[in-house]
Amino acid sequence: MKAELLYEGKAKKVYRAADEEGKLVLSYKNDATALNGKKKESFTGKGRLNNEISSLVFSYLKKKGIASHFIKKLNDKEQLVYETNIIPLEVVVRNMATGSITKRLGFTEKTPFQPPLVELFYKNDELDDPLINDDHALRLSDISQDELQVIKKDALMINTVLQEMFQTINLILVDFKLEFGRLPDGTIVLSDEISPDTCRLWDRHTQVKMDKDVFRQGIGDLLDVYEEILNRLEATS
Ligand code: TMP
Repeated sequence: MKAELLYEGKAKKVYRAADEEGKLVLSYKNDATALNGKKKESFTGKGRLNNEISSLVFSYLKKKGIASHFIKKLNDKEQLVYETNIIPLEVVVRNMATGSITKRLGFTEKTPFQPPLVELFYKNDELDDPLINDDHALRLSDISQDELQVIKKDALMINTVLQEMFQTINLILVDFKLEFGRLPDGTIVLSDEISPDTCRLWDRHTQVKMDKDVFRQGIGDLLDVYEEILNRLEATS
């Protein structure tokens, strides 16, 4: 199914799909990283869990009419996607204050953001993914002003859809990060992954953290938590 390795990131390897023009195979790794790669550990089974979870989330978004690079899950750790040119922006949507925004701007932990707050970060490991404004984004990527507005509007729409989905499995979507990519015909679509690596998810009743913060903060068992997210998602799909 897969041909040559194109790129290896912190959480995934990207291969060209054999005999499938314009398609890629994403292979999820077992590595967990935090603090921009300074904290790293491998968890047997993490790759499968994130592949399963992200596949279910992207399938759900597709049913709701949201276009993305996702085509299908291939096996335990791999999925088939359309090849896109990734736009070097991390689009973060926050429904509540926690994480970097509390440290950076002094918001009190758990301050609700209504309407939700959108932030842009420049995807650049050497610079530690800095927070940027719209003007920077236009100069650091090939997107137009109109496309940037569409990306931000889409991120808010995806937030609404995901909030509903997670609410049905008793999870609060606190915040999350999206990436977008450009297809050969110029269309911009949602790309990358949506998993407990890229979302903050808190149990609705206990507010217990059920995402990568358990690894970042050393406060729980990453595999147990990710397995629980998958079980809850599977119970409703
Ligand atoms: P932050 O509070 O650290 O800025 O993170 C906001 C959200 O974005 C959180 O759900 C985790 C996610 N995120 C990523 O997926 N990748 C990253 O590199 C960072 C910094 C955050």
